Amino acid sequence: MTWNATIVGTGLGVPSKVVTNKDFEKMVDTSDEWIRTRTGICERRFIDRDKGETLETIALQAGKKALENAKTKPEDIDLIIFATTSPDTFMPNMSCRMTASLGLVNAAAIDQNAACSGFVLGMHTADSFIRSGQYKNIMVIGGEALSSALDMKDRSTCVLFGDGAGAAIVQAVENADLSKDSVILGSKFYAKADVKESLSMAGGGTRTPYWHEDFAKVGPYIRMQGQDVFKEATRGMVRAAKEVMAQCEVMPSDIKWFVPHQANLRIIEMVGKMLEIPSEKTYINLDRWGNTSAATVITCLAEMEEKNMINKGDLVLMDVFGGGFSYGALLARW
Ligand code: ACO
Repeated sequence: MTWNATIVGTGLGVPSKVVTNKDFEKMVDTSDEWIRTRTGICERRFIDRDKGETLETIALQAGKKALENAKTKPEDIDLIIFATTSPDTFMPNMSCRMTASLGLVNAAAIDQNAACSGFVLGMHTADSFIRSGQYKNIMVIGGEALSSALDMKDRSTCVLFGDGAGAAIVQAVENADLSKDSVILGSKFYAKADVKESLSMAGGGTRTPYWHEDFAKVGPYIRMQGQDVFKEATRGMVRAAKEVMAQCEVMPSDIKWFVPHQANLRIIEMVGKMLEIPSEKTYINLDRWGNTSAATVITCLAEMEEKNMINKGDLVLMDVFGGGFSYGALLARW
């Protein structure tokens, strides 16, 4: 008997506050034109603390919708994986929080922190657990409230990121026919130590806790050397996607939808070009969401499902890169 994983439902968690590039013009020395042309971002969403929004509230919205779309009961979920770098609290972690808020009474819970690669790495983990026969119904959430980790005085980072959440339900299929059934066909992940820490959130961990004398120097914020990240992201995403396509014996022309990490339109265009996947097959929500880190790919997938853009049998290639650095790709037949 063999087990494979199939994606049976997705859901979206949408923060209520919309922040436009024009809003940032009032906060830092920037312009709508600079942000649009350098990144492709027009607006992003932040959680609205005044309305009581947290990462948990938007993840709850996503999780409920995914269960509904998957026609799955909360008690049937046997594992939840929550990918995030911006948990509401480190303890309890987000996946444990969700077992309570979603009523996942029979689920084990894992948080995974792989920055922007998080959701797809979570799917890679879910697929591996299902192939092993260990779990049968897994919820994977990618969610971030990175607005809380942005230095609103640093124009080189604060305009790039947004908050958001999405959830997918992954179920076990017995003795699938890999040449035609709707399953995750393959995935490949790598990490490369970023010794220069070109992309980091240095303060707040145990190396430099809040009470430490150096905390004021490093701060709790995202810091980034954009050009280093640009080069590594392009290289890593191309490598992982090529390897997964080769592993699954799929040509770029077979791909129906390319769903890359949404950090920067120029990275997406360059990776698409190097993979020979045309822009019409590439889904973008960066313009409306900004970079939601671990949530980018799942918010794309959930939006595409809401719009009925993905049909049964479509080959969907997910391709990600994030702080660490970590990078990888996953190919699924819908
Ligand atoms: N508005 C106006 N000017 C700005 C802004 C801003 N928001 N941010 C930076 N600048 C200025 C810089 O200060 C610099 O000014 P100077 O020449 O007077 O020193 C000038 O713009 C050029 O700065 P660069 O950093 O060289 O700009 P670049 O063209 O590289 O674009 C960007 C910056 C968009 C971040 C780019 O490097 C990039 O896309 N990097 C990829 C990293 C990325 O997208 N990260 C997202 C998060 S990481 C992830 O998701 C994996």
